[in-house]
Amino acid sequence: MVKKELLYTGKAKKVYATDDPNLCIFEYKDDATAFNGLKKGSFEGKGVINNKMANFIFRLLEADGIKTHLKEELSDRETLVEKCEIVPLEIIVRNVAAGSFSKRFGVEEGTPLKNPTLEFSYKNDDLGDPMINTSQALAIGLATENEIKELSEMAFKVNESLKKIFLQIGIKLIDFKIEAGRTSDGRIVLADEISPDTCRLWDAETNKKLDKDRFRFDLGEFSDVYFEVWGRLKEYYGNN
Ligand code: ADP
Ligand code: TMP
Ligand code: ASP
Repeated sequence: MVKKELLYTGKAKKVYATDDPNLCIFEYKDDATAFNGLKKGSFEGKGVINNKMANFIFRLLEADGIKTHLKEELSDRETLVEKCEIVPLEIIVRNVAAGSFSKRFGVEEGTPLKNPTLEFSYKNDDLGDPMINTSQALAIGLATENEIKELSEMAFKVNESLKKIFLQIGIKLIDFKIEAGRTSDGRIVLADEISPDTCRLWDAETNKKLDKDRFRFDLGEFSDVYFEVWGRLKEYYGNN
C-alpha cells in the first residue's frame, strides 16, 4: 500500500491518502490535547499505544459483530483503514456520571446511572463540539433518521461489548465517545479510534482513573496509566 499525500492533520493523528481512493492511512502522534485543543501535552510512545490499543479493541468488537473501518495495522504508529465520510456527530455513551454530564446535571461523579445514556455532540471544533439533540441534527442535515437509528444501536452495542472487554481486565467503563463513517458503498462503520483518549476507564477495585482525565486535570501518571491499560489488555487477551 503506497502512502500518498497528507489529507488532514488532526490533534492526535495524521491522515494520509493511499493509491486506493477507498483506503487511507492513520499515523498516530504522541500529542494529547484537551478542552478543544486549548491544553497541549504529549508523551513518548502515546501514538504507538493508541494505535495498537485501538486496533486491538476494534478487532475484539469485530468479533462481537460490530463493523469497523479497520483494515490492517501497518506499523507501530500506522494503520490502514477504510476511508469514510465521517458523520459529524460525536456519539457519547455513559454508564456512570462523570465529566460534562456531572457538571451539566449536577450529578456527583461516580454515581451509577440507572440506564446507559446516549448523547450526541455536533463535531465542529469552531463551535466547541456543542451537545445536539436528534431533531436538531436532522434539521441541519448532519445525518438521516435511519442513520441516527443505526448510530444509536451501534453505540449501545459497542457499550455492551466494551464493558465486558474492560471488566475482564479489572476496569469499569464509565463513558466513551465514538465516531461513525459512511463508506463509499453506503455502509455505516465504526471509525476513528477507541483508546484512553476517548473513554473514561476506572480501576474496578480502587476507582483510580486510567484515562485522559489524568492529563485533562493534571492528576499525574498520565503515561503510566496508558501503559497500564495496554499491558492489562495484552496480558489477558494475548499478545497480538
Ligand atoms: P481531530 O480531528 O479531532 O483533531 P484526530 O487527530 O484523531 O482528531 O484526527 C483524525 C481525523 O480522522 C478525525 O477528524 C476523524 O474524524 C477522522 N477519521 C476517523 N476515521 C476516519 C476514516 N475511516 N476515514 C476518514 N476520516 C476518518
Ligand atoms: P465529557 O464528559 O467531557 O462530555 O466526555 C465524555 C466522553 O467522551 C469521555 O469518555 C471523553 C470523551 N471525549 C472525547 O473522546 N473527545 C472529546 O472531545 C470530549 C469532550 C470527550
Ligand atoms: N479531544 C478534545 C480536544 O483535544 C477534548 C478532550 O478530549 O477533552 O480538545
